[in-house]
Amino acid sequence: MPQTLSVIKADIGGYVGHSAMHPEVLDTGREELAKAVQSGLLIDAQAQACGDDLFLIMSHDHGADDEAVHRFAWDTFLAGTEVAKRLHLYGAGQDLLTDAFSGNIRGAGPGSAELELEERPSEPVIVFMGDKTSSGSFNLPFYKMFADPFNTAGLVISESLHAGFSFEVHDLKDHRKIMFNTPEELYDLLVFIGSPGRYAVKRVVTRSSGEVAAVSSTDKLSMIAGRYVGKDDPTAIVRCQGNFPAVGEVLEPFTTPYIVEGFMRGSHYGPWMPVGLAQAHPTRFDGPPRVVALGFQLADGKLVGPRDFFEDVSFDNARREANDVADFLRKHGPFEPHRMPLDEMEYTTMPAVAAKMASRWSEL
Ligand code: 13P
Ligand code: 13P
Ligand code: MG
Ligand code: MG
Repeated sequence: MPQTLSVIKADIGGYVGHSAMHPEVLDTGREELAKAVQSGLLIDAQAQACGDDLFLIMSHDHGADDEAVHRFAWDTFLAGTEVAKRLHLYGAGQDLLTDAFSGNIRGAGPGSAELELEERPSEPVIVFMGDKTSSGSFNLPFYKMFADPFNTAGLVISESLHAGFSFEVHDLKDHRKIMFNTPEELYDLLVFIGSPGRYAVKRVVTRSSGEVAAVSSTDKLSMIAGRYVGKDDPTAIVRCQGNFPAVGEVLEPFTTPYIVEGFMRGSHYGPWMPVGLAQAHPTRFDGPPRVVALGFQLADGKLVGPRDFFEDVSFDNARREANDVADFLRKHGPFEPHRMPLDEMEYTTMPAVAAKMASRWSEL
């Protein structure tokens, strides 16, 4: 029977400020998940945190977009929000943008990535969790994993990868989607995904078998709310080995802390720092943006893990480089290219300040 791995996540309150999650909020997530496993809704589940975001990692056999699973996630975020309110945590219920659940979590604020699979005899998967950054931030790492032979040796030397991958790209502004086949459409693909603020890779498919290799959350909070309410803090699920890149090839893009949108007030560019769970607490200038990678072996739907990949010493240089890049970018203060360009600032103070100053402008 096909299984589904769903990661549904939300920021429901930070401790202290936006830096981390209070243990009681995480415990609430764990307790609710345990009940859902007990009741048979889920096969297995874990609650994990990256910064101030709660990630519900759920294995089940109801398929993607299942109303009961989505409703459970929504109710769990509501329960966590109650804890956040009691403790006066910062931004309690921040990402819950609708008053009532209406059948699907998409468009309601929380981010979701769901992957349906026929479990192989050994099924290694990696769940990525981001904080202080935007949907679209997985574009560059996905490109490296699935289309760059300098990153993924398997594209050259493994028969199962040699046919390449297809990328499903979403236009976040005009709500449309398109497929690109790589390697032959690499240059066309890059025209779009090189601009992750508008175009985000939703899904990657293995061309040799048609299986989904990776999926990411592309929900954009500011576009749902029409104003800045916090960052999307996306998640992604990637299958590894066999018809997919190896675990090490999936992790390799994060040895460079590529610059992403996010950081302080969601309005700055900064390096995406790979960290273990113990360091997933954006602290300096509400950053630098973080990414955690949790590895699991699926065993009849059970989540055997996690392996906290980025705590490994081989990511120390990436963290050092991220700190150096952050030092350098911070020196620019409120100037671009540290601060995001004007058209990206439309959800911040800019409209109000522009309106206040409107009458003071005169012709040159
Ligand atoms: P304030 O809401 O205190 O202005 O904080 C800004 C911020 O971090 C937005 O999420
Ligand atoms: P979060 O989206 O993680 O709450 O960050 C918001 C922010 O503005 C931090 O400065
Ligand atoms: Mg927050
Ligand atoms: Mg967050």
